[in-house]
Amino acid sequence: RTFYVNGDFVAEENAKISVLDRGFLFADAVYEVSTVLKGKLIDNKAHLKRLARSMSELSMAPPCSEAEIEAAQLELIKLNELDEGLLYLQVSRGVADRDFAYPAKSKSSLVMFTQVKNLLNSPMAEQGLHVISIPDMRWKRRDIKTVGLLAPSMGKQAALDAGVHDAWMVEDGLVTEGTSNNAYIVTKDRKIQTRHLGHEILSGITRHAVLKFAAEAGYTIVEEPFTIEAARQASEAFITSASTFVMPVVNIDGVELGDGKPGPVSKQLRLIYIKAAL
Ligand code: PDD
Repeated sequence: RTFYVNGDFVAEENAKISVLDRGFLFADAVYEVSTVLKGKLIDNKAHLKRLARSMSELSMAPPCSEAEIEAAQLELIKLNELDEGLLYLQVSRGVADRDFAYPAKSKSSLVMFTQVKNLLNSPMAEQGLHVISIPDMRWKRRDIKTVGLLAPSMGKQAALDAGVHDAWMVEDGLVTEGTSNNAYIVTKDRKIQTRHLGHEILSGITRHAVLKFAAEAGYTIVEEPFTIEAARQASEAFITSASTFVMPVVNIDGVELGDGKPGPVSKQLRLIYIKAAL
């Protein structure tokens, strides 16, 4: 695999960052994960716009122009001959001696790599995910896509240890989102419900696209938080993200939704999303 590090395309053994990088010491770094299908980036402009917002919220200088980032992304996909998978991109504030305050002078670093993934024909799309609910232990600015991912990492591990696929995080009795995805239910009257945007969740690029497609398909969208109890009583549930598209959830805390199989609304939205992406 070829990696990208600050302007250079290098082999993994040469893809290195200083131990004084603030991304390493303070999780002072932001990231994006973009889908690649048929060698093409999906919704990349929206990902780069969210990256710019994440940097701006943290007063982090962009490492280079958006056009330069995109050119490097395309080159990396080409060098790795990536057909289907993910492109990971991370910007950190850069290298400075350890001090909590932002350094007066530091050069932001940009690293990227690709991952081959079977996204379109994921077997989980047929089976549906089982999730557990866990307390949301993350910080209060989840709208900024930082690499401070220990809480969701613990949540995902807790899910795997419990023999399920993922966890939905709950704060003040209401579902925020999945460990690395936005969470939805389909109510008994066929409305699609997902938490409203704010500091509590990440504004998903896939969320934006899927809500638009769902509205066009005639669904009523309710952007309001829901409880785990409401989710258990929903007729369907699903998640969205760049790495899962629309993925059905069929079991929450051991309670089967409907007949325990992916429901028609989730399946339809997955098909619509994939068709538009290809
Ligand atoms: N995660 N919420 C959280 C907490 C996320 O980490 C993600 C994305 C999303 C969905 O956002 P999008 O639709 O833009 O991918 C929601 C990526 C995939 C990751 O960390 O790997």
